[in-house]
Amino acid sequence: MDNRQKLIINGGRRIEGEITVQGAKNSVLPLLSACVLAHGECVLHNCPQLTDVDAACRILSCLGCRCVRDGGTICVDSSAVSGYEIPDDLMREMRSSIMFLGSVLGRTGRCRLSFPGGCELGARPIDLHISAMRQMGAVITEEHGYILCSTEGRLHGARIMLSFPSVGATENIMLAAATADGMTEIHNAAGEPEIRDLAEFLNKCGAEISGAGSSVIRIEGVERLHPAEHSVIPDRIAAGTYLCCAAATGGEVILSRCRTEDMTAFLNVLESMGCRAYSYGDGKLYFSGKRRLTAPPMIRTMPYPGFPTDIQAPIMAVTTVAQGTSVFVETIFDNRYRHVSELVRLGASIKAEGRVAVTEGVQSLTGAKLCAKELRGGAALVVAALAAEGTSEIVGVNYIDRGYENIEKTLRQAGADIKRV
Ligand code: UD1
Repeated sequence: MDNRQKLIINGGRRIEGEITVQGAKNSVLPLLSACVLAHGECVLHNCPQLTDVDAACRILSCLGCRCVRDGGTICVDSSAVSGYEIPDDLMREMRSSIMFLGSVLGRTGRCRLSFPGGCELGARPIDLHISAMRQMGAVITEEHGYILCSTEGRLHGARIMLSFPSVGATENIMLAAATADGMTEIHNAAGEPEIRDLAEFLNKCGAEISGAGSSVIRIEGVERLHPAEHSVIPDRIAAGTYLCCAAATGGEVILSRCRTEDMTAFLNVLESMGCRAYSYGDGKLYFSGKRRLTAPPMIRTMPYPGFPTDIQAPIMAVTTVAQGTSVFVETIFDNRYRHVSELVRLGASIKAEGRVAVTEGVQSLTGAKLCAKELRGGAALVVAALAAEGTSEIVGVNYIDRGYENIEKTLRQAGADIKRV
């Protein structure tokens, strides 16, 4: 990965035009993991072209799957799964590599992996994943930074009470339980749309999962899964980020291939700021940010259907040019304000302390040299740089590429003056 690349943005132009929303990063990763369980060739459509997806395909190859990509379609043949180890470099590259724990354990009865990377949002423990696998009968030991998991025969069903509705832990339990012996119940399960997408795909493969999307998910384990074909849901976070680009620049966009029903919390906030949005036709959303924006008084990130933590940084960039004061409370991650110091370089007025940040809208921002330090924070810098007068340079583009498919091309087509050098 070339981390010397930069995005050069000449701001002050409205984002206007039609943007097709990519497939969801947070869906495709667990779906690729689910393919391990399917004993044959699965076909996934609408897969976004992202470095995290490439990393997941490399993990699949290490496990003995054949993984072939053709445009947005990825075929994964898991007939010959032989491996059970996820190499350290791939674990470090992407936190979501932990998503392979449940499927590899379910398929091979063992799994060896190191602690996942992606610690840039503060401590991101995996205790809920580990404890759930133990409750399902896995024996887990830690040795020299490696986690070794194994089971005698199949995992067994369990009644698992999550102390927090962790998205990743809910998905790992669903994967492990799909072919476990007996019924698994997840209480206080995460309800994100990506969880429903995973359940839908697993059920197409022969799993028996009910309740996905609610706080109690039941999984009746089956002996074996078979392959299936599936299309990844649209990325609500990428969609929301492009709406933030339009809002911050006083623009107007039509999003196509999006699911507005998954975006209610942040559409409500954007509408309360004076933006207008309505959905029509098949997956289209009209959005206008042409009126002067008023700052939303309070944004508190919450598990779905609350305001998504992944949109906190992009919307903060919008509030920096809105009229008034906004208070942000980040309840999901403990270090998710790393974009604040960079936004301040553009002239934004923001104070952050612990999990609280306060923005005071200013008349205008001015271009500056910026550094993306993580994915969504990086996207927030793009939003702000588009709104700023003058030129901005953003380094750390490799973080942005983890979640946005060709961001500069998408935005250029919508009128932005942005290039990658
Ligand atoms: C997923 C998303 C990420 C999003 C997050 C919250 C993917 C690939 N990533 O991440 O974009 O920001 O949901 O919506 O889907 N926790 C523990 N112990 C655990 C697991 C989690 O304490 O074993 C804590 C985390 O530290 C964090 C909180 O739970 O504070 C939420 O994490 P979780 O929902 O698990 O997020 P991810 O699945 O990592």
